[in-house]
Amino acid sequence: MSAVHSPAPPKKRKGVDAWLDERIHSGNAIDYVRNHPIPFNVHPLDYLGEVTLFVFISQAITGMLLAMAYHSVAQTPYVYCPATSPQANWAAICPLKGSVSPSEAWQSIQVIMSTTFGSLVRSLHFWGNYFMVVLVVMHMMRGFFSGAYKYPRELTWLSGVLLLAMTLGFAFTGYLLPWDQKAYWATTVGISIADTIPIIGTPIAELVKGGPTLTGATLGRFFAIHMLLLPALTGGLLGLHLLLVNIQGISAADGLVVADDAGTQLKQIPDAPEAATSSNDRFIPRPSAATGGASTMLRANSAADLDHPERRS
Ligand code: HEM
Repeated sequence: MSAVHSPAPPKKRKGVDAWLDERIHSGNAIDYVRNHPIPFNVHPLDYLGEVTLFVFISQAITGMLLAMAYHSVAQTPYVYCPATSPQANWAAICPLKGSVSPSEAWQSIQVIMSTTFGSLVRSLHFWGNYFMVVLVVMHMMRGFFSGAYKYPRELTWLSGVLLLAMTLGFAFTGYLLPWDQKAYWATTVGISIADTIPIIGTPIAELVKGGPTLTGATLGRFFAIHMLLLPALTGGLLGLHLLLVNIQGISAADGLVVADDAGTQLKQIPDAPEAATSSNDRFIPRPSAATGGASTMLRANSAADLDHPERRS
């Protein structure tokens, strides 16, 4: 049996790398990433978390860009503009006579959509939201059906459940922001559903609405939740989620065993870092029967092969 993974020798640092390492010891983190083994035989569905992360980062960037042009201001709920009015400043408030006055929020979306870059950024953010919800659910289903939620990854799963709630929260609060009829009435229905929860439903509904009905105050609150509260909570949770994945390795590499050519198990490797090897020449290649090596890596095919009774099979 040979060693499965040998770390790269310490690298001589130079330039910016050396400058930063002297000051903030960045070399440790860089070496950790360089030496982090990659599991082999991983199914594409095992990477759905990374795809979700990519879309999340895209949503964060496009959201920041949109926030530079979006105004979260709306009249309560709409102002009707009669053809004549005694008020001196009526013309400024009511550009369209005999109609409802569009809100600043709605108008700012029209301005964003009137430029090519604005419409690209908004469309990426709009469709990214749907991708995000679908991907999170697919990632969760993959975790459920492959048993990735079991020991020792219960905390990863629990942080994931909270991330699912955050994702749905982003979708719900973002839907109101264009402040058009669809947004207004869909949110009214959504909040009314929350209102039906016994005891806590009505206080929660009034808290998010900022009063008994859905008004411009609700828009301000939804914008604050969408732009400040949810990103802060999601950032923290995502950090925890990814830290746990890094500590434990992904479950697809669990249960690998080293066996000799006759199939006799020599060593069981429960967790990903040791179970994995890499095509990178810094790692000793996995010996195989074809190359006359003494051992091969096999996937354990029953929980009985493994040392913990709860470990997934
Ligand atoms: C914002 C949403 C989320 C992001 C960006 C995210 C990201 C990730 C990433 C990058 C991984 C590493 C490997 C992999 O792709 O499986 C991972 C693993 C994992 N995630 Fe998520 N995740 C999210 C939501 C969720 C949800 C909703 C759940 C379940 C309720 C969940 C449960 C898990 C579990 C159990 C693992 C470990 C998988 C394994 O070891 O095989 N995640 N996640």
